[in-house]
Amino acid sequence: MKVVLVGSGAREHAIAEQLSKSSSLYSIMEKKHPGIASLSQEVLICNPADKETVVSWCKEKGIDLAFVSPDGLLEKGVTDILASAGIKAASPSRQAARIEWDKGYARTLLHNHKVPGLPAFKVVGNADEASAFLAQHKEVVVKPLGLTGGKGVRVMGEHLHSEEDVLNYVSELLKKDKQALLEEKLDGEEFSLQAFSDGERLSVMPPVQDHKRAFVNDAGPNTGGMGSYSTGRLLPFMELKDLEGAKSIMQQTIGAMRAEGNPFRGVLYGGFMITKDGVKLIEYNARFGDPEAMNVLMVLRTQLSGILQSIADGSLIPVAFSPNCTVVKYLVPEGYPENGKKDCKVSIDSKAVWECGGKTFFGSVYEEAGEIYTTSSRAVAVAAQDASLERAEGKAECCTRAVHGPLWHRPDIGTPPLISKRTEHMRRLKR
Ligand SMILES: Nc1ncnc2c1ncn2[C@@H]1O[C@H](COP(=O)(O)OP(=O)(O)O)[C@@H](O)[C@H]1O
Ligand SMILES: [Mg+2]
Repeated sequence: MKVVLVGSGAREHAIAEQLSKSSSLYSIMEKKHPGIASLSQEVLICNPADKETVVSWCKEKGIDLAFVSPDGLLEKGVTDILASAGIKAASPSRQAARIEWDKGYARTLLHNHKVPGLPAFKVVGNADEASAFLAQHKEVVVKPLGLTGGKGVRVMGEHLHSEEDVLNYVSELLKKDKQALLEEKLDGEEFSLQAFSDGERLSVMPPVQDHKRAFVNDAGPNTGGMGSYSTGRLLPFMELKDLEGAKSIMQQTIGAMRAEGNPFRGVLYGGFMITKDGVKLIEYNARFGDPEAMNVLMVLRTQLSGILQSIADGSLIPVAFSPNCTVVKYLVPEGYPENGKKDCKVSIDSKAVWECGGKTFFGSVYEEAGEIYTTSSRAVAVAAQDASLERAEGKAECCTRAVHGPLWHRPDIGTPPLISKRTEHMRRLKR
């Protein structure tokens, strides 16, 4: 089977690794990604939303199945472009991906279908509506409706320190987008639940916890995600009912989208928070998480190409994972996230990585004359698995020392002190 993967980054590198095991991999990307390119039979470097170029290349290569990975390309309708050429896809259409690119649509859909787990929210179109919502809720969160690469949400007490700050940010968003989303601020522990769906059935992957903050102990600005861990079926701060609650919210969402004639086929990612009042939905993504994709794909036991084929056919097959713990850490350029240092040489000692018992995935890097260079974004992910979280963390940490260049990472991700902080937070809330 010939599968085309659209997109490039560490998440896509992990997807490519899995796909190349059981199918002939073809890939489309904007800039040559050294890792994905080396796994592919052939690579098309172009703007992936350029319909003519993409369609004629896929037809010429005889592609059987497509998987469009990044949010930006799903919003641009790259799945629809491929479908229009008769190529089956295991990723959502532009309309189905709206669950991610329009937070107002996601909230309203769930509200209309009485799906549980929603915080109080309001899509506001003027300052008076925002003031009214503020009068009802002590602390709020302000969100742009569209995609912002994780950089648009502002939380009271963290980024916004007064009602005036809130109203100023709302008015900034109203000028740009005419609308903004206000939500009650929740307190709890966050986790990511990713699931395969064929539009009707849902198969969840192990839950993962990401770390958005740049520095040790969750300090500093938000980032695309500095690293993540998973511990098999449940995370350490999680009860079975939390997982079941999240699964049920996602299953009901798939049902609601189907009922509205907008079926979701692909990977649905639920960002959840466990609060003292149960599991709440923070947001949906219409794709794998990055870094969370690496945690789950590392322990995937079913062939990914077979899963994707079954999604495209509308008859999802059973999916199995090994129960191992996983740890992923991103090495990022000096100055990241505000001012990541570009064009610096990075090298990986593959033998040392192998001896550590882990692996590496290339993130936002590029290749020139056989050398690898940084962009301003997350450069290399290290990943490891083991029956014990401590050992998986130790392997990942060992791998960070095998990657050379002006890069840094968060050594605390997946370590016992940080895990205890999470479980303690949860215990305090549930008391
Ligand atoms: N209602 C909320 N209460 C508390 N924190 C929130 C809430 N909504 C979002 N956040 C915080 O902001 C982060 C980003 O919000 P999210 O909706 O996931 O947007 P995006 O990932 O598109 O930036 C979340 O991971 C969470 O930490
Ligand atoms: Mg998010």
